[in-house]
Amino acid sequence: MLVNLKQIIDMAEKGGFCVPAFNVYNMESAMGVINAAEEAKAPVILQIYPRLINEDVGFYLSHVLVAAARKASVPVCYHLDHGPSEIEVQRALRTGATGIMYDGSVHPFEENIAKTKHIVDICSAVGVPVEGELGHIGSVNDEVMDEFTDPDAAAEFVKETGVCCLAVLIGNAHGHYKKPPCLDIDRVKAIREKAGIPLVLHGGSGIPDEQVKAAIKAGVRKMNIGTDVCCAFAKGTLDSLNDPNRSIAIDIFMKKPIEAVKNLALDKIRLVEAYGKA
Ligand code: 13P
Repeated sequence: MLVNLKQIIDMAEKGGFCVPAFNVYNMESAMGVINAAEEAKAPVILQIYPRLINEDVGFYLSHVLVAAARKASVPVCYHLDHGPSEIEVQRALRTGATGIMYDGSVHPFEENIAKTKHIVDICSAVGVPVEGELGHIGSVNDEVMDEFTDPDAAAEFVKETGVCCLAVLIGNAHGHYKKPPCLDIDRVKAIREKAGIPLVLHGGSGIPDEQVKAAIKAGVRKMNIGTDVCCAFAKGTLDSLNDPNRSIAIDIFMKKPIEAVKNLALDKIRLVEAYGKA
């Protein structure tokens, strides 16, 4: 069933678990995630990067995601990830998104607040909840970290903007980590306490399991997984190519990538304790 961002995060909040948010890129990666969610009886978020929304692929894929969510027996949210401006937000809303992330973290604090609040106003007019970001996750990697999210600033940001959940910088980064990250769990607790809303952990590919569990305990209710989806899909594709009995028929060729994404999604669903929670 198609649900919105707040509804799905509220489930996690009540149940004390975390909803996995998978970045999907095509119909087959979405099918892998949905197959896993159905098997695991888990709520999931299917999210797409803004570049997809700005290209034809977003137009086609959005129809697939909405149809898949409606058909699913488990709660599914279709979410825009890292929307950089109102243009991508409007496009995502028009294609049926039920969750929006507006990422104003490149802007100075006050400007981030003003721009995020504007997006919250637009989205609330059509009943779509918004995820905000404080601390610029997009600018960091293993070697270059930016200033972590400040708990007092997070409280002010949440109060002024009305976002329903907040992405924070606490030692996480996008892409595979060269060395295991060391998440600042005390900071998660402090942000959570002061801001009072569910938190979002970006860069979920490669965070050691025990740190993911600690972050959930401290108040993370949505974890993004992108790079691992790509790696699973690529491996499944190679397996198809290397299979001596492979079929060139595209639907059959795609079975292994779909299965690989499904297995990855099942692992992450277990990790974030969403298994059986639908
Ligand atoms: P990873 O690619 O590191 O899993 O991060 C995904 C993400 O946070 C998307 O917003």
